[in-house]
Amino acid sequence: MHKPLLAVLKGHHPASPPIWMMRQAGRYLPEYREVREKAGSFLDLCFNPELAAEVTLQPLRRFGFDGAILFSDILVVPHALGQTVTFEVGEGPRLDPLVDAGGLSRLSDALAPEIVGKVYEAVARIKEQLPETTTLIGFCGAPWTVATYMVAGRGGDDQVAARLFAYRDPEGFSRLIDLIVEASIGYLLGQIRAGVEVVQIFDTWAGVLPNAQFAKWSVEPIGRIVAGVKAVAPHIPVIVFPKGAGPRLAAIVSETAADAVGLDWTADAGFITREVLPHVAVQGNVDPIALLAGGDALDQAVDTVLRSYGGGRLIFNLGHGILPPTPIAHVEQMVSRVRSWRTAQ
Ligand code: CP3
Repeated sequence: MHKPLLAVLKGHHPASPPIWMMRQAGRYLPEYREVREKAGSFLDLCFNPELAAEVTLQPLRRFGFDGAILFSDILVVPHALGQTVTFEVGEGPRLDPLVDAGGLSRLSDALAPEIVGKVYEAVARIKEQLPETTTLIGFCGAPWTVATYMVAGRGGDDQVAARLFAYRDPEGFSRLIDLIVEASIGYLLGQIRAGVEVVQIFDTWAGVLPNAQFAKWSVEPIGRIVAGVKAVAPHIPVIVFPKGAGPRLAAIVSETAADAVGLDWTADAGFITREVLPHVAVQGNVDPIALLAGGDALDQAVDTVLRSYGGGRLIFNLGHGILPPTPIAHVEQMVSRVRSWRTAQ
């Protein structure tokens, strides 16, 4: 196969792992900052197919990554369901908070086609310009993570609001989760019809849930999304990234039909090698702070990932998104070290 990232997801094991980075299109790149300024707001950039395609392709030109991730955001889903979403510069997202189940009546049960249509148009444009060895990755947020932003109206430590809602009114919270599950299946299938070749489900806040709630609000809804996508598009691999899941990654592997799991930088290599790597591909997991630090610390972090997982099906990545102050030279250092590594070493 001439697309190394797709090949790993389909069961192959190349001598040198494919590489991309979460948040690879972003503020650490001067060319991104330039386009971002021209576009107006962050959401204006997401919904401008020409510019969204341009920023998706920028990191490929610099680093020759094996994966391109659609430039968009997980909060496009609540926005397209009718919730007000804005991004304040330097402060992150702001939504009109959904404080109780009564707020559900203000939401539509289907994604506004004129909004998600812009995302699908961006996918088609990216696909036209994509290098032939690069795999195009679409994505959505996991229902739990999307719900935390919808309920609190912001990011930060406010998963408390969604946890409280879920304890006080599990039935109402279930309806919110079901709404996001159905919208996300439709959204991923729309991206697939437009040309994405792999999809990733981001569960950034999976780690805050106690075990029982992790099973109910993280694993089960993600499983329904994976099944819903595979029922229509069985050939499209799905990567699930449940940040902070720790040993509970095993439940994602056994309870969902995910083809790969994303590891954050706290993953235990012994556990992953025994319980995860025999069943699915793994993606990760250099600490983004080691990438920020550079030097020997970065070389060691890269080598640890290669040695821990390079004997199996590995997609080299960070353990979470690249941070805006990261020097470009550090990314180049990481990419060249990964490219020169071979399993036989
Ligand atoms: O390069 C890529 O990874 C593709 C695009 C992408 C963005 N967001 C662009 C973005 C992807 C895959 C996401 C996912 C996303 N968005 C997640 C899950 C992954 C994660 O990082 O945990 C979450 C939780 C969000 C919600 C979100 N979007 C937050 C909390 C913020 C503010 C924090 C920040 O980094 O500023 C955003 C804004 C955002 N999304 C930016 C980018 C490039 C920065 C905004 C800007 O350029 O002004």
